Amino acid sequence: MKIAIVGATGEVGRMMITCLQESGVKLDSLELYASARSQGTVLYFSDQPLKVQVLTEDAMLKHFDYVFFSAGAGIARTFAPIAAEASEIVIDNSSGFRREEEIPLVVPQVNGDLLEGYNGIVANPNCSTIQIVLPLAVLDKLFGLQKLVVSTYQSVSGSGHQGIVTLRKQRKGTPDKGIYPQIIDQNVIPQIGAFLDSGYCQEEEKMHQESRKILRLPELKVSATTVRVPVEYGHSVSVYAEFAREIELREAERALSQAEGIMYYPNTYVTPLDLGNSNDSHTCRLRLGTDGKSLAFWNVGHNVRLGAAANAVGIFLQHARFSGRL
Ligand SMILES: NC(=O)c1ccc[n+]([C@@H]2O[C@H](COP(=O)([O-])OP(=O)(O)OC[C@H]3O[C@@H](n4cnc5c(N)ncnc54)[C@H](OP(=O)(O)O)[C@@H]3O)[C@@H](O)[C@H]2O)c1
Repeated sequence: MKIAIVGATGEVGRMMITCLQESGVKLDSLELYASARSQGTVLYFSDQPLKVQVLTEDAMLKHFDYVFFSAGAGIARTFAPIAAEASEIVIDNSSGFRREEEIPLVVPQVNGDLLEGYNGIVANPNCSTIQIVLPLAVLDKLFGLQKLVVSTYQSVSGSGHQGIVTLRKQRKGTPDKGIYPQIIDQNVIPQIGAFLDSGYCQEEEKMHQESRKILRLPELKVSATTVRVPVEYGHSVSVYAEFAREIELREAERALSQAEGIMYYPNTYVTPLDLGNSNDSHTCRLRLGTDGKSLAFWNVGHNVRLGAAANAVGIFLQHARFSGRL
């Protein structure tokens, strides 16, 4: 199996190397690409040193079985279509293709069936959306999801490596706002991405559109408030959901406990610091909402693992099984 990672030096790219290693899949070759700033940087795959190369059009004309992109939407829009012509599958972490109707937006445990027989670009969803659609898909099957109101508490690594650099500098006393619109240390910022005419910001709009697409519920009513908090890793989401049918709390608990990719906690709650290296969506504090047809819960996920690299590797593994490569 020949694999390439574009954006290999970033938060997601480095984690992608780790997740590929953890998958135990034997690779024939792994090529790493980033900007000219990183040329020659050495990264390790299973103790094997690999030199980072500069991303060029020529490099993307080579044939790989799978090419992972985690270098932002601009780079993906320019280079992913070239790679998709030359290689079998391109898995892109950016928002560059997520809304395009013909591009599958995949969380393997929810809609991985879309990968069967598919070749081309696959979009990896937004981080906070991945972690909540896992339990929501389970609850939708039971009770019929109709409406969703979420508030997020998103860590600074969600903004890439510069998010962590900004928080750490401010903790040491720098008064510079860094990459954020306000000081993030000792603060919370209710804005992720630019504001749109609707009054929502870009990250909120991603959660609206992407939950509808992944859950295959185009009529789903969604309102998100996305907030950046001074946490390094791990996004938390407070979820309130309304359903078509009466909730049977015990049935919901049983289904969530048994679902793949979900850790369900009936008697305690989880915080970002509890996540460690988990790739699961951690769901707890499940309770009735405003009536017998609504639920509220707390959800925590590792944004760089579950929210990006582990889901991308999950797409790769499922596609490779469908296509007989594994
Ligand atoms: N962080 C998260 O939690 C998360 C979650 C879901 C999705 N994503 C998405 O994943 C993508 C990467 O995010 P990240 O957090 O890993 O960001 P990051 O830490 O800032 O890393 C960005 C990567 O892109 C590379 N890059 C930048 N400009 C380039 C160019 N002109 N040519 C080639 N490579 C270039 C960088 O290479 P250099 O090191 O050489 O600059 C680096 O490897 C983004 O689209 C982001 O929205 C991130």
